[in-house]
Amino acid sequence: MASQIILAALALLASSVAAHGGLANYTVGDTWYRGPDDPLEDQQGKPWMIQRIWASIDPIFSVNDTGLACNTPGTAPPSYIPVAAGDNITAVYWYWLHPYGPMSVWLADCGESCEDVDVNQLDFFKIWEAGLVEGNIVEGIWYQKQFQNWDGSPDLWPVTIPSTIKPGLYIIRHEILSIHIEDKPQFYPECAHLNITGTGTAVPSPEYFARFPGTYKEDGMSDS
Ligand SMILES: *[C@@H]1O[C@H](CO)[C@@H](O)[C@H](O)[C@H]1NC(C)=O
Ligand SMILES: *[C@@H]1O[C@H](CO)[C@@H](O)[C@H](O)[C@H]1NC(C)=O
Ligand SMILES: *[C@@H]1O[C@H](CO)[C@@H](O)[C@H](O)[C@H]1NC(C)=O
Ligand SMILES: *[C@@H]1O[C@H](CO)[C@@H](O)[C@H](O)[C@H]1NC(C)=O
Repeated sequence: MASQIILAALALLASSVAAHGGLANYTVGDTWYRGPDDPLEDQQGKPWMIQRIWASIDPIFSVNDTGLACNTPGTAPPSYIPVAAGDNITAVYWYWLHPYGPMSVWLADCGESCEDVDVNQLDFFKIWEAGLVEGNIVEGIWYQKQFQNWDGSPDLWPVTIPSTIKPGLYIIRHEILSIHIEDKPQFYPECAHLNITGTGTAVPSPEYFARFPGTYKEDGMSDS
């Protein structure tokens, strides 16, 4: 991602879009997995919860914020979404209204359990990304704009779980980076717990690992 170029162009962008949105629930095939209906409601103790709790639809502004991993407070849920390697999982957003900036999806292997992990120490690896679909970064169409519906119906973001991945318990992390305001990137990360099944053995090599915070720097993206 050419962060410098993006930042240089931000001055040209209109900054009037004020509404945010969030990842409300997930689907695998025909099965729905509920996230919080109301992010401000206390979700603790709900046995069906598969998403890490996010308390606000407001963006994260600091590249050092511990919420950059799995939002704030990021409290672990008790359940996992079962998904087979090679299948799609679709993130369902409501009221997404920002048009500019990249979107990415990451996985991290939790080991024995995702409930006890320190999400800031997990090694995430990217399985999906999208930026500009056509045109230049100011006037062109970003995937972020293309994926949203303007009629109030849910915005669907499907990604494929790598077919050869080693099965196990993983965190899936969806991130939208919105850059419509000059020098003020807005991060919107949300996480859920996955139980990936399959017969694969693939694991990413360490050069693909990223930690949050740690991966982003104020003047661009870190190489390490
Ligand atoms: C998905 O999330 C929205 C917003 O929280 C909620 O209104 C809707 O009922 C959810 N759908 C399902 C099937 O869980
Ligand atoms: C983030 O951390 C880096 C490295 O410690 C530091 O240089 C920078 O000033 C911090 N930025 C903010 C906004 O806290
Ligand atoms: C799975 O997701 C990909 C996008 O990552 C999409 O191109 C494909 O059509 C989806 N497949 C199904 C069966 O929904
Ligand atoms: C994950 O899925 C496997 C296979 O269905 C199952 O045996 C295991 O109990 C599941 N683990 C969790 C934590 O849900």
